[in-house]
Amino acid sequence: MTKKLFIKTWGCQMNVYDSARMADVLAPLGYQPVDEPDGADMVILNTCHIREKAAEKVFSELGRLRQMKDRKAETEDGRMILAVAGCVAQAEGEEIVARAPFVDMVFGPQTYHTLPEMVAKASRAAGSVLNTDFPAESKFDFLPEEAGSQGVSAFLAVQEGCDKFCTFCVVPYTRGAEFSRPAEQIVAEAKRLVAGGTREITLLGQNVNAWHGDGPDGSTWGLGRLIRELAEIDGLERIRYTTSHPRDMADDLIRAHAEVPQLMPYLHLPVQAGSDRILAAMNRKHSADDYRRLVDRLRSAKPDLAMSGDFIVGFPGESDADFAATLKLVTDIGYAQAYSFKYSPRPGTPASVDGAQLPEEVKESRLAALQQLLNAQQVAFNHGFVGRSVPVLFDRVGRRDGQLLGRSPWMQSVHAEANERLLGRIVEVRVDAALANSLAGTVVTGEYITASPLQPAVTLEASA
Ligand code: 5AD
Ligand code: SF4
Repeated sequence: MTKKLFIKTWGCQMNVYDSARMADVLAPLGYQPVDEPDGADMVILNTCHIREKAAEKVFSELGRLRQMKDRKAETEDGRMILAVAGCVAQAEGEEIVARAPFVDMVFGPQTYHTLPEMVAKASRAAGSVLNTDFPAESKFDFLPEEAGSQGVSAFLAVQEGCDKFCTFCVVPYTRGAEFSRPAEQIVAEAKRLVAGGTREITLLGQNVNAWHGDGPDGSTWGLGRLIRELAEIDGLERIRYTTSHPRDMADDLIRAHAEVPQLMPYLHLPVQAGSDRILAAMNRKHSADDYRRLVDRLRSAKPDLAMSGDFIVGFPGESDADFAATLKLVTDIGYAQAYSFKYSPRPGTPASVDGAQLPEEVKESRLAALQQLLNAQQVAFNHGFVGRSVPVLFDRVGRRDGQLLGRSPWMQSVHAEANERLLGRIVEVRVDAALANSLAGTVVTGEYITASPLQPAVTLEASA
């Protein structure tokens, strides 16, 4: 009998990947994904702990779910298994068990391959099953090879965890030490994804460019070499990777941007701040000028590379002059897109106990100023495309009838009227307008691009 599984995912792309893999682990037990929690046989909250209020959000969600669980208990098919997974579970597992004893399973990011055993235990016994170990074995060695399709654009985790210990960040504590999956395992997973219809793969890791592994020839491979290997897979048309650390941007990876056509010209390379004093306090181990020089080298290799980044404003002790240095760095680099956050003290991290915490109003006003600058850069970047044709990989149907959504090589969302036959294909689209967060375009009739021998050319009708 099939059972209904609902997973709610917060946070980063790694969590999205983990949720997909949890569904893969549960599929042999009869669980099939559904779109809403009410009436589900299992509900998993896959949580994020990176910034504020994460735990409160989880507890308020649990309050709602408890009512659904109680309602289901009164019906004939009885039980809803309720689980909290991810980084809040890892960091605050015991508190969850104490405060919400109706939760059946609490497990962190490194143990979800043991879900079948946890489910069996939870079914037998009353009380919560808590599993927040960092096991010696890698979950990747135990996850099923059979995976549900991730669609045209898929995530593939290659690296996990972090040894950098930036002083603001919980990741080294919730995800654990840096770990690289073996090259062979990654290539095999990529081939399976492509066989299932995937055309674009985003390689994931908290420090993805720290990935390293043994190549079949006995030499040590870095991420650049791995990307070259993946580019050999027929039918894999686009490769991306995220998130990178400036310290791990190896020469070969930079060269790959020049030499591998499937590697897309977009790079998310967080710098966090533009003041050397703050960068040192953050334990980033590089200066603002190191970052400028690195971006220069990347742009020499790939002149049209679109840059993205993460920024934190209001780090403890940040002065007006420090913040001005961040604005200066942003102006110097010119971002196509970026994420910016107010500093949020995370329990257990060194910066959270720094005496020089800044008032909320200062953080607010700095965030507003930074976002204004970043938005202006994004708008200018997108406007530069109006009137140009760009190759778009359509990966979803749009909200409006007859519309498809896809991405340009530079990660812009593009929508256009297009026949559903074009899903999964790279099509030339003329950009008609640049909106705040996307481009609107028209499919250029008759023009069609593919690097893949798996996709026979199609002739587009005028109505395409
Ligand atoms: N406060 C604010 N932002 C944070 N980030 C990580 N930790 C914190 C924190 N304590 C941001 C960083 C990181 C992104 C994923 O989240 O910019 O790159
Ligand atoms: Fe956190 Fe720094 Fe590691 Fe990124 S590099 S995950 S910001 S500790």
